[in-house]
Amino acid sequence: MNGMNRYEWIQLLEMLTKTEPESTSFRADLAARAREIARAHFGNRIFVRGLIEFTNYCRNDCYYCGLRASNHCAARYRLTPEAVLACCREGHALGLRTFVLQGGEDSGWGTDAGGIALSDKALCQLVERIKAEFPDCAVTLSVGERPRETYRAWREAGADRYLLRHETADPAHYARLHPRSMRWEHRKQCLWDLKDLGYQVGAGFMVGTPGQTAETLAKDFLFLKELEPEMVGIGPFVPHHDTPFRRYPTGPVDLTTACLSLTRIMLPKVLLPATTALSTIDADGRERGILAGANVVMPNLSPPDAREKYELYDNKLSTSAESVEGMNNLASRMQRIGYRLDFGRGDHPSFRHDRKEL
Ligand code: 5AD
Repeated sequence: MNGMNRYEWIQLLEMLTKTEPESTSFRADLAARAREIARAHFGNRIFVRGLIEFTNYCRNDCYYCGLRASNHCAARYRLTPEAVLACCREGHALGLRTFVLQGGEDSGWGTDAGGIALSDKALCQLVERIKAEFPDCAVTLSVGERPRETYRAWREAGADRYLLRHETADPAHYARLHPRSMRWEHRKQCLWDLKDLGYQVGAGFMVGTPGQTAETLAKDFLFLKELEPEMVGIGPFVPHHDTPFRRYPTGPVDLTTACLSLTRIMLPKVLLPATTALSTIDADGRERGILAGANVVMPNLSPPDAREKYELYDNKLSTSAESVEGMNNLASRMQRIGYRLDFGRGDHPSFRHDRKEL
């Protein structure tokens, strides 16, 4: 898989999108191989991250996302730094050692009463406070495309990891999913900047977005190979009723899990979540993700009233095994398929968090 060229990737991916029995058994073989690789590096451990969705304001207008700026039906909210810290305290008491602060591209978060945008600084201060109160924890940020200097400031404040899905590595497909103000080249540059600044970086994409083909997916895998991110987020596209993509079908489960397997085989030590989107479209989605090579789950740690407003797509799950209240449920579901939750920081195996100098 590692030496495969674009043409070979396209052939492989074309075959994986088919429903013939041969493709089904090929997907099963891939999953078995991926599982073995995950076992070799991580045993039967599944890392848990506490997800805190701290703002759903967004300046961007991605055609697939329910939080897009043009969606005036979205009920917007921002958590205060104190509210985020309260979530961390709750999560820490439950044993979590990674907090993922996710939000839209909200330049107003942390704005003072006079309306001066202090957003970047406010997030620096929050990261510092979290790291001071919980020095044994990793902080992951996921707040989109920002200037390199902002990424640097957050890193210096103590942020360890950054999630920024690349969404698609095909420029024309990227333009089909995003307005003109968003550029593939810029997205890519952000990911390289994050790497360069010493973050553990997460890229990734949705499966089944409008216009996605074996050709565009081949570029996604070749890009992942080149970037070598420490984390990869892959979930199905799920339509949201207040977006331009409302009438497009949900991405296929089988192809999503096959993409997880391919990612595990290509990047053996990668941290790979079984995503909420996968659990949302399939009752056994989480288990199917793990059995395809995933090794991370990210239950929701946001306050319950915020959760329902963080509506990236329709029917997004945020309760039961997708939430921290459902931790026992989550643990027993993992146990049933032979895995156990690991509450450590769960850094990438070849990444000591204090290794890279700024
Ligand atoms: N379906 C599935 N995933 C989505 N995301 C955004 N909108 C949707 C949707 N409609 C994903 C994007 C983004 C991440 C935070 O959520 O890949 O990077």
